[in-house]
Amino acid sequence: MPALVQRALMLMLVVLMLILTLKSVSPQSAGFVKSPLSETKLTGDTFELYCDVVGSPTPEIQWWYAEVNRADSFKQLWDSARKRRVSIDTAYGTNGVSVLAVTRLTQEDSGTYECRASNDPRRNDMRQNPALTWIRAQATVTVLPKPKINSSDDVVLPTDSHAQLQMLQCNLTNAHDTHRESYWTKNGEEIPGTRGSQKNTEYRINKPRSDDAGEYMCVYTFNMAPPVNATIEVRAAPDITGHKRSENQNEGQSATLYCKSVGYPHPTWTWRKLERGVYVDIDNSSGRFFINSRDNYSELNIVNLDISSDPGQYQCNATNVIGMASESSILRVRSHLAPLWPFLGVLAEIIVLVIIIVVYEKRKRPEEELEAGPMKTNSTNNHKEKNLRQRNTN
Ligand SMILES: *[C@@H]1O[C@H](CO)[C@@H](O)[C@H](O)[C@H]1NC(C)=O
Ligand SMILES: *[C@@H]1O[C@H](CO)[C@@H](O)[C@H](O)[C@H]1NC(C)=O
Ligand SMILES: *[C@@H]1O[C@H](CO)[C@@H](O)[C@H](O)[C@H]1NC(C)=O
Ligand SMILES: *[C@@H]1O[C@H](CO)[C@@H](O)[C@H](O)[C@H]1NC(C)=O
Ligand SMILES: *[C@@H]1O[C@H](CO)[C@@H](O)[C@H](O)[C@H]1NC(C)=O
Ligand SMILES: *[C@@H]1O[C@H](CO)[C@@H](O)[C@H](O)[C@H]1NC(C)=O
Repeated sequence: MPALVQRALMLMLVVLMLILTLKSVSPQSAGFVKSPLSETKLTGDTFELYCDVVGSPTPEIQWWYAEVNRADSFKQLWDSARKRRVSIDTAYGTNGVSVLAVTRLTQEDSGTYECRASNDPRRNDMRQNPALTWIRAQATVTVLPKPKINSSDDVVLPTDSHAQLQMLQCNLTNAHDTHRESYWTKNGEEIPGTRGSQKNTEYRINKPRSDDAGEYMCVYTFNMAPPVNATIEVRAAPDITGHKRSENQNEGQSATLYCKSVGYPHPTWTWRKLERGVYVDIDNSSGRFFINSRDNYSELNIVNLDISSDPGQYQCNATNVIGMASESSILRVRSHLAPLWPFLGVLAEIIVLVIIIVVYEKRKRPEEELEAGPMKTNSTNNHKEKNLRQRNTN
């Protein structure tokens, strides 16, 4: 019995080893996981093609190029070819992965690009037909001349209110294809109602104000090619459109002052404090002052308020290349007793009232006594008169 078990185990072991050897020896021919995709590009741009192959052993990857797609016209592409505009990055792991990139494209870069992969041991044997030992995947790259846009110059909006109509223009020249559409954007967002199909397009800013300043762009889209655009900057001095006029806090708490601006480019922000009639840099030796500025918004945070040094007038200052603007805010700091003041006030009022009543009462009593004398006599006189009259009638 043990002998039988032993033999069975031996047999299993042999089978297992056989499977393992077969597996490591039997080659798995190369296959594409990801093959390069055809694309259309514009002169000056960059394209990248990806190739991902699987196989055992890991296949070798090569890139080939032909201006016209004929088998005999392909030439192998090497890293740094075409005056270093070509780069080939290949990594061999369980898969072979390769990226072909061509930069600063010219129209001569148009053609067929081929990713070739093989793990056939005879793949580099000259006597073999490469068509049998290599697998191939092709992509067609079309490079079109980049259309040009003749656009208006950058604009600086005047600071006075007599600003006139501003006209932003873009003219498409040298277009390779019937363009499809054009539209305008401001600060990266499409301006509604600006889509059209003219080669010459304009955007009007009637009565421009500071908040019309920004980065404008005209964008042309095409049926068969990537879009093109041109940027026109409309600059204006900052204008502070919102700020905290005053802030009231208790000592020990924190206070937040802020300013918001319009104008372009976005300003750099500073905060200062009025000391003896002049604005000076904030003394941050206590480390309690924090400034947070983001584009058109700035915030001054003061933590753990100090009643003796913090109250006063603060100023935010927005400055860009065109001009500057500033606004001031008043910070009031109440003492810890402050919440008691309303109560103390009511108490004081009650005391005053009580005093008034007491004094009034004291003054009223002697007066009443003085007044009461003649009044009584009057009424008794009247009674007497009445009595007399009654008697007379009787
Ligand atoms: C662009 O516009 C300017 C003035 O409008 C003109 O002189 C110039 O020739 C134009 N350029 C092209 C390429 O059309
Ligand atoms: C665009 O073309 C129009 C009409 O041809 C011309 O009046 C205008 O000056 C051009 N604008 C630019 C920026 O070239
Ligand atoms: C404008 O053109 C640049 C350069 O070609 C491109 O990087 C950018 O994405 C384009 N922007 C838009 C909104 O089309
Ligand atoms: C500040 O800029 C942001 C983004 O640029 C914009 O969404 C926001 O409306 C601007 N705020 C003001 C007050 O202009
Ligand atoms: C003030 O000092 C604190 C602590 O050193 C620091 O974190 C903060 O950035 C300073 N604030 C300003 C406005 O410089
Ligand atoms: C605002 O800051 C700029 C730059 O720091 C300075 O030149 C200008 O005098 C300041 N303006 C005001 C009103 O304080």
